[in-house]
Amino acid sequence: MLIREYRGDEFIDREKEIEFLKDWFESVPKEILWLYGPKSCGKTTLIEYVIENELFDDFMLFKSKKYNVKYINFRGKAISNYDSFINSFITSEMKDEKDLGIAIKLGMIEFSYSVYKRVQERRIDLFDALTEYFRKSKKTNVMVIDEIQVLEDIYINSERELIKEFLNLCVRLTKELHLCHVVILSSNTIFINRIYNEAKLKMTSEFKKIDHLNKDMAYEYLGVKGFSEEEKELIWEYLGGCIPRLQKMIRKKAQFSTLKEYLENEVELAKSEVKFFMLKKCSHKEIEIFKQIIKEILKKGYYCLDEENKQKDEYMSVIEKFSQIEILFFDPLTLKVTGNNRLYEKSFEKLT
Ligand SMILES: Nc1ncnc2c1ncn2[C@@H]1O[C@H](COP(=O)(O)OP(=O)(O)OP(=O)(O)O)[C@@H](O)[C@H]1O
Ligand SMILES: [Mg+2]
Repeated sequence: MLIREYRGDEFIDREKEIEFLKDWFESVPKEILWLYGPKSCGKTTLIEYVIENELFDDFMLFKSKKYNVKYINFRGKAISNYDSFINSFITSEMKDEKDLGIAIKLGMIEFSYSVYKRVQERRIDLFDALTEYFRKSKKTNVMVIDEIQVLEDIYINSERELIKEFLNLCVRLTKELHLCHVVILSSNTIFINRIYNEAKLKMTSEFKKIDHLNKDMAYEYLGVKGFSEEEKELIWEYLGGCIPRLQKMIRKKAQFSTLKEYLENEVELAKSEVKFFMLKKCSHKEIEIFKQIIKEILKKGYYCLDEENKQKDEYMSVIEKFSQIEILFFDPLTLKVTGNNRLYEKSFEKLT
């Protein structure tokens, strides 16, 4: 296992994922690539690492001979309507370019002032202008969109759905024109499930799961950090391979008299979070269904909705509810439901 340095911190493993992405960007764009996976498993960090270290020759100087990379992370952007979407997505050469930091250069598509103005005034279609922009580029185009679900429920001129139009553009750029790689990230798998079930997008997309570290990797990482075999087992039992949870444990465990005490405290916190949500936001019926689901997760390692289940819709709605707040993780490809990370599953033991 490699532990590299990235942004002054450690960057653990992800060798296979990095190779996969490097190969992906080497090939001709034909499909949209969706990276999905549980909350905080490291999707954003992975793609940002690949952009900065593999697609750029020198990221600090913003130099890449081969790639024209546009990376838009909608997290934290206040997008409430189509105008704010335009403003967060495109800029113009008239804005003093020297002042644009790397993040802005990377995150915005630059149009000539006349095109920018015409798009803003709706005299030309944004998506046509974007296609034209990528067509003119002499490099391999790469567009990465993080937190795409933010675009849901936004309308263009109060009729066209922005997300649909945007995804149509992505299909056009990849499958039809082979003009630009499109990578889309989301941990909201309820949203991805809706997309996955749309025949047109299913045919034109590849879905790749980014997961927590597997057991071998987690054990190796803990070995590097000096943990004994017995401690590794205990940590795996409570935290699984969730990277930020492992890192937090390494930072905080000294505040507790034993490792076990630290881990028990974390489970108690997770249990309170789940319990609070159950009591505050769920009906008796929903709590009952949730308990059935987590019982099955504890027994089998996952829950899978049974076709015969007479309360299918009610079960699915509970799965959606707990997935939206990222306590459960629903995999739209396998239809399996698990805890969002091992700590939640450990807390389920105290809730059944
Ligand atoms: N490979 C890694 N090595 C070290 N730290 C990592 C790694 N991947 C992620 N992290 C750390 O874990 C935390 C969560 O990562 P990140 O935000 O990339 O996850 P995410 O899957 O994009 O989360 P979200 O579901 O919220 O979008 C960050 O603090 C990040 O620095
Ligand atoms: Mg992310």
